[in-house]
Amino acid sequence: MIVARTVAEFRAARAGAPAPVGFVPTMGYLHQGHLALVHAAREECATVAASIFVNPTQFGPNEDFERYPRDEERDLQLLEAAGTDLVLLPPVDEMYPPGDTTRVRVSGITEVLEGARRPGHFEGVTTVVSKLFAMVQPDRAYFGEKDGQQLRVIRRMTRDLLLPIEIVACPTVREPDGLAMSSRNVYLSADERAQALSLSAGLRAASEAFDRGERDAGRLRAMVREGIEAQPLTDINYVSLADSETLEELDGAVGRAAMLSLAVRFSGATLIDNVTLEP
Ligand code: PAF
Repeated sequence: MIVARTVAEFRAARAGAPAPVGFVPTMGYLHQGHLALVHAAREECATVAASIFVNPTQFGPNEDFERYPRDEERDLQLLEAAGTDLVLLPPVDEMYPPGDTTRVRVSGITEVLEGARRPGHFEGVTTVVSKLFAMVQPDRAYFGEKDGQQLRVIRRMTRDLLLPIEIVACPTVREPDGLAMSSRNVYLSADERAQALSLSAGLRAASEAFDRGERDAGRLRAMVREGIEAQPLTDINYVSLADSETLEELDGAVGRAAMLSLAVRFSGATLIDNVTLEP
């Protein structure tokens, strides 16, 4: 596995890499969810590239950029064991050269849900992902369904910028008890960790009700809220049932593919999760 710490080093290694090249962008502190993306890339691509970069522009001023968990040595071991060929660990001043004023912004679907909760977040994500795409020039890029809105925003950006990259969505990887894997789960206390099970349980209950024929958007949202509100350490930021493509909130009977998603605050972290409902 080649570990490139500058853009020039990465480009030199990328030049001889056989196609197709699969790319897994990450912010490190890897868990099984990230490794599932690497495994998917490994199955389909001749070269697997990954990046580890905690991107400052996607964190708000009061968010956890400084304390975001980092463990580079362990990440590199995991990436190597999963069959990664090239890893890019660029320094911040190469990703954002002094005087950098260029940003990539997708409008509309970035203004709701996580975009409303975290203003500027998606602009940071699309800016860094376009820089990474420009460097890596992958044929395929792998993203987790856990960040459902991010996946849709990246798809839209890739389509709108005419980038010849296939965006591959991989299913959310969950702990055995259902909690969606996230680098931020380490912020939870033991009690919060136990109460966080209400997130996936609520989504699962609503999804099962949907499969049994429940179509009322309000009742499906309420089903998710009830279980979470019963947990005293949770604070719901949103529970949304939105059109899967446009992310417009749905009312009445759900007649098309929808994303049921939520963000729930705990003392040290906000967790997100979602499921897709297909009539
Ligand atoms: O999903 C993430 O880890 C990040 O948002 C990404 C896509 C690596 C961009 O920094």
